[in-house]
Amino acid sequence: MRIYREKNYDAMSERAAQIIGALVLQKPDCVLGLATGSTPIGTYQRLIGAYEKRILDFSNVKTVNLDEYRGLDGTNKESYRFFMNHNLFDHINIDKANTHVPDGLAADGAAAGRAYDEMMVDLGGTDLQLLGLGQNGHIGFNEPGQFIAGTHVVKLTESTIKANSRLFDDISQVPREAITMGMRGIMTSREILLVANGPKKTKALEAALYGPITPDVPASILQLHPNLIVVCDEEALPQMQ
Ligand code: F6R
Repeated sequence: MRIYREKNYDAMSERAAQIIGALVLQKPDCVLGLATGSTPIGTYQRLIGAYEKRILDFSNVKTVNLDEYRGLDGTNKESYRFFMNHNLFDHINIDKANTHVPDGLAADGAAAGRAYDEMMVDLGGTDLQLLGLGQNGHIGFNEPGQFIAGTHVVKLTESTIKANSRLFDDISQVPREAITMGMRGIMTSREILLVANGPKKTKALEAALYGPITPDVPASILQLHPNLIVVCDEEALPQMQ
């Protein structure tokens, strides 16, 4: 595990963007696993900046996202497909046909999960998986309780619904279910980049990096990954152990 503990959110975002950018430069047809949420927005802004300066070319890059709310279609502004278009894809030269987000509208969630996993295998797996960290230790929407291998439908916990309600007009509008990549999809990525900032993440980050490996802290499984990079700010990790 390699840890970059940066001064603040901007420095964290800069570092994360450099790591992703270096991969895009070295492997222009790489497969990036991407995340939504507040944490990676600064990283995406810097990737857009590098594209605008003609440093990065995304024309051959493919992406797979971690998760999507169930019941929201991609035009819904709270959907993760909308988030990705709005915060990254609409501003770089990626072919949208090469961008993948789980299907939140699939009637048969299990079949949609299997299809997503097959699609990832067909792409040759991901070169780098970017992950945010839930306050309860979740990665993707793999909530505490069990490690599930494949892409699957999940019931969101009250803590996640509450944390994510800030992005909705009202907590009642937060979907109660999501479809998420499972631990196999995440752990088979050749490299993992975990980003976390702010004091709300300290407890989860310390448990993930230094605690026992347990489904009660889903991110703790990352300790087993041979190529884990953590990029955080000082608030999220007041002390390195
Ligand atoms: C998003 C995702 C989630 C978030 C996590 C942290 O695709 O999979 O695991 O990364 O909930 O969210 P933020 O960054 O908003 O604190």
